[in-house]
Amino acid sequence: MRVLIIGCGGREHALAWKLEQSPLVEEIHVAPGNGGTARWRNAPIKVEAVGELVRYALEQRIDLVLPGGETSLALGISDACRAAGLACFGPDAQAARLESSKTFAKTIMTKAGIPTALGRSFTELTAAAAWAKRLDWRAAIKADGLAGGKGVVVARNKEEVMEALEAMLLHKSLGQAGESVLVEELLEGEEVSLLAFCDGQGSLPLPSAQDHKRAFDNDLGPNTGGMGAYSPAPMLPEEQGRALCALVIDPVLRELAAWGHPFRGVLYAGLMLTQDGPKVLEYNVRFGDPECQALLPRLQSDLAELLLACLTDGGLEGLTLRFDPRPAVCVVLAARGYPGKYLKGLPLRGLEEAVSDPSGPRNEADEADEANESAQGGRAMIFQAGTRLKQGRLVSDGGRVLGVTCLGDSLELARRNAYDILKRLPAKGFFFRRDIGRKGVDFLRKAAACRDMES
Ligand code: AMP
Ligand code: GLY
Repeated sequence: MRVLIIGCGGREHALAWKLEQSPLVEEIHVAPGNGGTARWRNAPIKVEAVGELVRYALEQRIDLVLPGGETSLALGISDACRAAGLACFGPDAQAARLESSKTFAKTIMTKAGIPTALGRSFTELTAAAAWAKRLDWRAAIKADGLAGGKGVVVARNKEEVMEALEAMLLHKSLGQAGESVLVEELLEGEEVSLLAFCDGQGSLPLPSAQDHKRAFDNDLGPNTGGMGAYSPAPMLPEEQGRALCALVIDPVLRELAAWGHPFRGVLYAGLMLTQDGPKVLEYNVRFGDPECQALLPRLQSDLAELLLACLTDGGLEGLTLRFDPRPAVCVVLAARGYPGKYLKGLPLRGLEEAVSDPSGPRNEADEADEANESAQGGRAMIFQAGTRLKQGRLVSDGGRVLGVTCLGDSLELARRNAYDILKRLPAKGFFFRRDIGRKGVDFLRKAAACRDMES
């Protein structure tokens, strides 16, 4: 089949890379794509141009449209595809409001009985401030609409609360997206991501993952799109995936189906593991990025088959996912200055050499796994994001430039493998976090120490 992937990030490169391994897939198009996806077919169409994307898909006789990010879903790409007789992996615009409206998401969560932070929505400053005071001035202030990762302020005192509320409600710092805000109680705990394939009725969880949203080590600095991810997150053991889906995914599917907007695609729950159990911070209606770059290299099942199964009611029933048990770590290389101002057009040389260097990382299991590894597309993957080809040369073209993903026999080894590759990549003008996956390693060490003490 012919697939059109929509987007230009590392997630879209990873999706193309994984789909290429499927015997079902004969052609891959990416719109608009990046320097890495140029080896398939890039179509210079923006993710917002829904009508143009649909026209292109019809012209190219595309069998499956796969939106990577939320923008085209929120703008109704799924509805437009359906009207044109095209298959699209992702929810319609109404169901996509789970991500594009924090208030809508909260309403659905309340109706479906999902554990989440106590919260209320406001358009008026005085009422919002009065509610925040009842929360002891410790609140997450969330712009209702899509704000490109800048829509949430975690405020811990009156000054911070008022600054955020005034910026969004009075000064319209986020435009229309912040005209209405959700003000919710602060939750404490470890954050993890749970993604599940959904077929409108049922769900199939992927292994857990953990993102690193802040720009700098030790979770300092401004929020970003995500500076790295790893999977599995040991705080969320695999055997809990199914039970968690029953708690935070399936009730949402039932609610949306009863409302006439069944959810077909990937539903992503951002969870806080609190002392009172897991609570949902947010829903995304797509694969997470960079989580996707850590998850797909572990996926051994045919991705194309899974995407198609989601498009049929009950299509996932009886299916199981096969995953490489080894952990994966993805570290993002970003342009210096990101998420603020940064330079574009910096040369990116030596990517292939960095991953193919024979003196590169090796695991004990590598010898035995050689066959498996070639089926998986190699030991280390570089998924390109903000890159483009300029007169045949690869240059940077965005804030998050690329992601390096490595597997390893342990989380520690996967980290070491990924950082070994990063050492060999161009450094000038770029930066990366050095602690991706460290929380997972610390968690595993503590758990092992507890077990030792008990025995
Ligand atoms: P969201 O887009 O809703 O996931 O929020 C972005 C980030 O803000 C999350 O990844 C959390 O780190 C933080 N956050 C959101 N809601 C809360 C909350 N109720 N309590 C504490 N932190 C939160
Ligand atoms: N990694 C967070 C996101 O994709 O929204």
